[in-house]
Amino acid sequence: MRVSRDAVRTKGASDVGVEVAVHELTKSFGRQTIWGDVTLTLPPGEVSVLLGPSGTGKSVFLKSLIGLLKPDKGSIIIRDVDIARCSESKLYETRKLFGVLFQDGALFGSMNLFDNIAFPLREHTKKSESEVKKIVLDKMEMVGLQGAEGKLPGEISGGMRKRAGLARALVLDPEVILFDEPDSGLDPVRVAYLNQLIVDLNAQIDATFLIVTHDIGTARTVPDNLGLLFRRQLAMFGPREQLLPSQESVVRQFLNGRREGPIGMSEEKDVAQVEAEMAALEARGGDSHNGVGPKGASGGDAVPPQLEPTEGLPERQGARRRQERVARMLHEFDPDTAEAIRASLPDDLLAQADSGAFEPTQGAGGRHWAPEPDAVGSTGRGSTATLPRQGGEA
Ligand SMILES: Nc1ncnc2c1ncn2[C@@H]1O[C@H](COP(=O)(O)OP(=O)(O)OP(=O)(O)O)[C@@H](O)[C@H]1O
Ligand SMILES: [Mg+2]
Repeated sequence: MRVSRDAVRTKGASDVGVEVAVHELTKSFGRQTIWGDVTLTLPPGEVSVLLGPSGTGKSVFLKSLIGLLKPDKGSIIIRDVDIARCSESKLYETRKLFGVLFQDGALFGSMNLFDNIAFPLREHTKKSESEVKKIVLDKMEMVGLQGAEGKLPGEISGGMRKRAGLARALVLDPEVILFDEPDSGLDPVRVAYLNQLIVDLNAQIDATFLIVTHDIGTARTVPDNLGLLFRRQLAMFGPREQLLPSQESVVRQFLNGRREGPIGMSEEKDVAQVEAEMAALEARGGDSHNGVGPKGASGGDAVPPQLEPTEGLPERQGARRRQERVARMLHEFDPDTAEAIRASLPDDLLAQADSGAFEPTQGAGGRHWAPEPDAVGSTGRGSTATLPRQGGEA
């Protein structure tokens, strides 16, 4: 989609979504470090996906973002509040900015859908019942659940429960929405509908989205940015153009859903075993690009087209802002990533980037990647994968 420079510029600072800046966050339970020194910025209004093998602490990360779990160190800044350190009352206030779709939907089994979805409004606001009703019915319609108000969670399908959880996550008009595996347990067609719903929602409300998913199709087509948790650290976080065609062994293994590679069934593999597996894979012809393995069979280019909002809906403001953000960062990327990003930019933005009109970003200095996991060892020593803030942003 080509967007004029003017369209990018008309976005006023007041209606920009909210940024979530995580800095050197570490979380352990007892002596078990879940992840260490995680640094990333969720750019306002953009959609980011967090990938990672089971048990790497993705749900723990989401719960830390909303202050349900206390990190050992580091900060989570949203609207100048540090979630990791603020008072209980400030946390209660700030939490209202978030909408969360928990991994299991987390609906109250004895309440019908209407009451479930109305719950945050009744709990956190003083709205009259007629206002509550209007909002609840509006959100239910948004997620395609009209008419199901009286049903109990046990009487509806798993897909409907997910959508009810999503409607409940939306009632407080959140500025940040966290989705914990919204697509797990759904059939592929429903996943496709849900993905479209997520993109449409983002276009309509311009909130900042973070989605934890194991669905490679979702990872390939929905987000602006992707991150990968692996071996107790954030192995990478960056634009889709950087991650999706990545040659990094752990990324390739994950996106292709294959056994060969550094990710093991329950524990880490040793280097010799990984090397032997990779050699055998190469001997069989390897995988030509990401997304062709058993779990990633969606074919096509290494950077597949991104889902766009349904016709008739507004354009995604986050996607527009992102174009300028990545145009400013072009010099930080490797040539292939830079080329893929250039291909997604409108001509006038490209011309600006090439003419040196943008102040160089002071981001990660081009390093969006943690060191090769093997070089880090299993101590969980920190490294960062930052997505630099947009230069001129207020
Ligand atoms: N409240 C808790 N107390 C102690 N350990 C916990 C707690 N919550 C999570 N853990 C541990 O933290 C680790 C990460 O768990 P988490 O649920 O975040 O994984 P995940 O990446 O979301 O996995 P999945 O993809 O299977 O959902 C696990 O080893 C888990 O046992
Ligand atoms: Mg989880």
